[in-house]
Amino acid sequence: MSFETPTILMCPPDFYGIEYEINPWMSRSQQSDPKFAQAQWEALNQLLQTLNARIELLTPVKGLPDLVFTANAGLIWKNRVFLSLFRHEARQGETPVDRDWFEAAGFETIEMPEGLFFEGAGDALFCGDTLFAGYLIRSHVRALQWVAEQMHCRVIPLQLVDEFYYHLDTCFCPLSATEAIYYPPAFDDYAQHALKEHIPHLIPVVEKEAQRFACNAVVIGKSVVMNTGCPQLEADLNQRGYATHSTPLDEFIKAGGSAKCLTLRLDGEGAAVWP
Ligand code: ARG
Repeated sequence: MSFETPTILMCPPDFYGIEYEINPWMSRSQQSDPKFAQAQWEALNQLLQTLNARIELLTPVKGLPDLVFTANAGLIWKNRVFLSLFRHEARQGETPVDRDWFEAAGFETIEMPEGLFFEGAGDALFCGDTLFAGYLIRSHVRALQWVAEQMHCRVIPLQLVDEFYYHLDTCFCPLSATEAIYYPPAFDDYAQHALKEHIPHLIPVVEKEAQRFACNAVVIGKSVVMNTGCPQLEADLNQRGYATHSTPLDEFIKAGGSAKCLTLRLDGEGAAVWP
């Protein structure tokens, strides 16, 4: 696969729904509406295309409702993908589907060693040449170290302490090699300190907007796409020279996901400087 433009993997929400509860946002008694979910996903897809992204599609599979969250398919590094090893059995069926897609697309696929849970770009994000990696709730700290060793890159493990922010991409979003959005209370003290030490420009989000998944944004160059209801973050980003675009994603928040979770940059995030 060659990339002339930012290229993003998405999966239509044909079989999306709240079928199990593996994070505190999910409740089977609070179902998503298939029509609204479809419309919100379509609007996100269109918006990303207007921002010059090319969208590749993963075929949805019945019985795998969270397959829509392609950020968890794996971590992309050049023409390789470190496939996820999901902590919860309910999502483990996604990995063979992801593997098939990546192989057909020409990626080299790498499987995690047994028992090393790893949830892909949900928990591992480059900011510059450093891999920032969230652990404890989903990914295993040793898994993150293993992945970083394979890439010969520096990894900064960040302990996640709030079950509502169970993946790193729910509370941290690199904008460029030197800037990132974050929600401080989702991290332990050491992780907050490490972030401040390694990233020169950190933009904190307020609790109310963190709950709207402000940190779960898609960055394409100087454009940032996020859920509605994050006016403070939008203002902060505008001031830093970013154009912001909001689109309603409430149907996906019911599963604990938003814009970023619904996407995977196949050509690597703009904030990444690969070793
Ligand atoms: N229901 C899914 C889960 O709990 C949501 C995943 C959201 N993805 C993400 N990258 N944060 O695993």
